[in-house]
Amino acid sequence: MCGIVGYTGINQVAQPILKGLKKLEYRGYDSSGIYINNGSSDILVKATGGVDDLRDVIEKQKKDLTGTAGIAHTRWATHGGVNVDNAHPHMSEDGRFYLVHNGVIENFQELKEQYLQDVNFHSETDSEVAVQLIDKFVKDGFSTFDSIRMMISKLDGESAYSFLIMDRKEPDLIFVAKNKSPMLVGLSDEGNVVASDAIGVLDITHDFIELHDGEIAVVDKNKVDLFDKNGKQIQRESFHVDIDASDTDKGIYPYYMLKEIDEQAIVARNLSEYYFDNNDQIQNIDPNIIKAMNDADRFYIIAAGTSWHAGLVGKRFFEQWANKPVEVFISSEFAFDQPKLSEKPFFIFLTQSGETADSREALIKIKEQGYPTLTLSNVMNSTLTREADFALPLMAGPEIAVASTKAYTAQIIAQSILAHAIGNSKMNIREELANIAVYMQSIIDSKEIFQKIANDALKNQRSAFYIGRGLDADVSYEAALKLKEISYIQTEGFAAGELKHGTISLIENKTPVFAFITQSKTAGLVRGNISETAARGAKTIIISSEKNAKSGDAYVLPQIPEIFMALLSVIPAQLIAYYATIDRGLNVDRPRNLAKSVTVQ
Ligand code: F6R
Repeated sequence: MCGIVGYTGINQVAQPILKGLKKLEYRGYDSSGIYINNGSSDILVKATGGVDDLRDVIEKQKKDLTGTAGIAHTRWATHGGVNVDNAHPHMSEDGRFYLVHNGVIENFQELKEQYLQDVNFHSETDSEVAVQLIDKFVKDGFSTFDSIRMMISKLDGESAYSFLIMDRKEPDLIFVAKNKSPMLVGLSDEGNVVASDAIGVLDITHDFIELHDGEIAVVDKNKVDLFDKNGKQIQRESFHVDIDASDTDKGIYPYYMLKEIDEQAIVARNLSEYYFDNNDQIQNIDPNIIKAMNDADRFYIIAAGTSWHAGLVGKRFFEQWANKPVEVFISSEFAFDQPKLSEKPFFIFLTQSGETADSREALIKIKEQGYPTLTLSNVMNSTLTREADFALPLMAGPEIAVASTKAYTAQIIAQSILAHAIGNSKMNIREELANIAVYMQSIIDSKEIFQKIANDALKNQRSAFYIGRGLDADVSYEAALKLKEISYIQTEGFAAGELKHGTISLIENKTPVFAFITQSKTAGLVRGNISETAARGAKTIIISSEKNAKSGDAYVLPQIPEIFMALLSVIPAQLIAYYATIDRGLNVDRPRNLAKSVTVQ
């Protein structure tokens, strides 16, 4: 959350920085700002809204952004409302230092009171405290580098930060510091860049140095100096990011979300190709992972949001094929309310971004206890992939829309492959995935059906329900999250049998109730539950599988093994959410109050 780009180079940097920032807008889009350092203090421009709004302000104010070094930020507000003053970069009182920040400074009030009582603050943010502290320490006689280290040493240990700092007196340098929040330094012949996500600077470089917690980098146009938390200079090899910059473009699509929904069949094929050889044998899974999982007596899946929903589905593969008991936890709950564990637990982290602060907190606590950990992530080299004992990729390609779609299906498929690798599915998973990809495509190609369903059922509704039992309940949670997060229709996902224990009182005339009926064991019962809502005036929309279909169902999904049905049933829900949001004239990719990659707790 919060996109950050910095660039110190041999050419003009404002346009590449703004272009990079635009790519990172999905990390926050409340407000944005840029500072170009050429020794003059007035090239600071800030705006509420995203990068296009910032460009408008630059044009309106006729700002000349000439300069070869600069930093920029797109914000997801934590402390202080959304306004220009609270937008980054923040400036020290005398205009010498400029800073952008991602994260939260837990003790900013205390720091303000202890060190900065005489300072006039321009904003209500925690971030401004950091830049004013640097200024204070410099005025006390310390170098910029030492002042940054001193500032960091004053932050509460729980604070998450990545900072880019510029000093007007050293216009080519960008000082970078990070703890818990992601930050990468990118290397190129035309200068060096810094970004909170490689996606923002792939037009400039594919080669990066990762920063570890507590480290500081001093980035110049022709070199990067890296220092550990004790201030000792260290060396680190760079790594190559293998993403095509064009993968991060929308192409012909009006929204990333639609593009990413459409890519799900390809993702299923990618995963199959990556994890199976031509003889249907598993490949690219370290045998040590299989051994560690086989040695465990219980798996704990830890994840947040959509990834947690994917974990609920994945539990079934591990239990049924690998014969291991599985518990699935919400990261933010597990981290602070750890249950009694089994004797030999194995932890699986599911995370699209690999940067989710809640999941990382849980990982830190599990590692302290010495248990084995595996991260399944769409971003290799992300914090959670680096810090777990093992990591496996989701092969979904960059997911830019805030609402996760293809990462959900990728997480389910990856878990199925892993469960097959350690257990015995008694299936040819490669063949199953090939069929599933074809069926996914056929559902995706029926978009107009879901557009009509969204239009008929949701146009003027304030609330809606998704229900199902067993695996269909798991998909209901995800379907409800998709619909509510982007359309703002208050939607609950429910285990169908639970409705009558209270929530059914919310059903009014025409309340839309969507039901998934893909599990034979409970199909009749869900039909009973849906009738109960219909009897109270609900508008019911049934999405069933061929085996469980009845006439009048709104959509019948192709039949695949029931354990895999979530991979198909979620697609109508994603498309219904998409079209309901379009109908309301909202920005599908950027729901209010949200941002991708939630790096605060
Ligand atoms: C919802 C969504 C979020 C994320 C959650 C965890 O569409 O995308 O609920 O799933 O913030 O993020 P990751 O998977 O990156 O750990």
